[in-house]
Amino acid sequence: MVDGNDLKIPNSQVLHRMFAHPSGFLGHLGGWLMGLSNQDIAQWTIEALDIQPRDRVLEIGFGPGEALRQLAQTIPDIQLHGVDASGLMVTKARKLNRAKILSGNIDVRHGTVETLPYPDGSFDKAFSINSMPFWEHPIPGLREIRRVLSPGGNFVVTVQPRWAKTDQEIQTVEQWMEENLSSAGFFPMKADLRSFEPVPAIRFLILAPPENVPSS
Ligand SMILES: C[S@@+](CC[C@H](N)C(=O)[O-])C[C@H]1O[C@@H](n2cnc3c(N)ncnc32)[C@H](O)[C@@H]1O
Repeated sequence: MVDGNDLKIPNSQVLHRMFAHPSGFLGHLGGWLMGLSNQDIAQWTIEALDIQPRDRVLEIGFGPGEALRQLAQTIPDIQLHGVDASGLMVTKARKLNRAKILSGNIDVRHGTVETLPYPDGSFDKAFSINSMPFWEHPIPGLREIRRVLSPGGNFVVTVQPRWAKTDQEIQTVEQWMEENLSSAGFFPMKADLRSFEPVPAIRFLILAPPENVPSS
């Protein structure tokens, strides 16, 4: 089994504050960069879910809120929800999506994937972009996502390991994602790799996971 430490995420305080758990001035900078640079990956992630206007949708780790903005623009009456562990990102996402929050179409909350603030079966679709490698407890987090998905719900998780320097490192991230997803009961799944700058992104799509969640 691939361990989180095998992912070789740089142990840098600067990168941590910019991207993993954005806070302070560096978090503002990271939020601005993510809003600018992750739009294509957000599009690629969202399109895998085939979201319909009546779907109840959750994003985990929304950062500056760009994917929520894109989705609300594409499907105007949709109900979107989001959870992010960074208070700063919640503030930024609220600012970016102010009109849709006021109209009741978007609700964003401060919280973590490990303790999602929703009842069982609240959502038809869930997605997460470039957040999973930073979760403290990925398997319990993924189980929480399963809990809040309705039976038959779909989940997409995308990671662009920008720190990876070789194909082997990207494969290690893919293997780590797959192992964590299947340990949490997310199967069968479909993996895709797509070229983006500066490194490819890995996307896992899980359509209707089985109903019995494996015990820990
Ligand atoms: C690299 S950013 C990605 C943001 C956005 N999805 C994007 O692609 O631009 C990672 C985000 O995951 C959030 N995050 C990290 N750990 C989390 C956790 N345990 N639960 C929820 N969100 C988390 C961070 O606060 C941060 O906003």
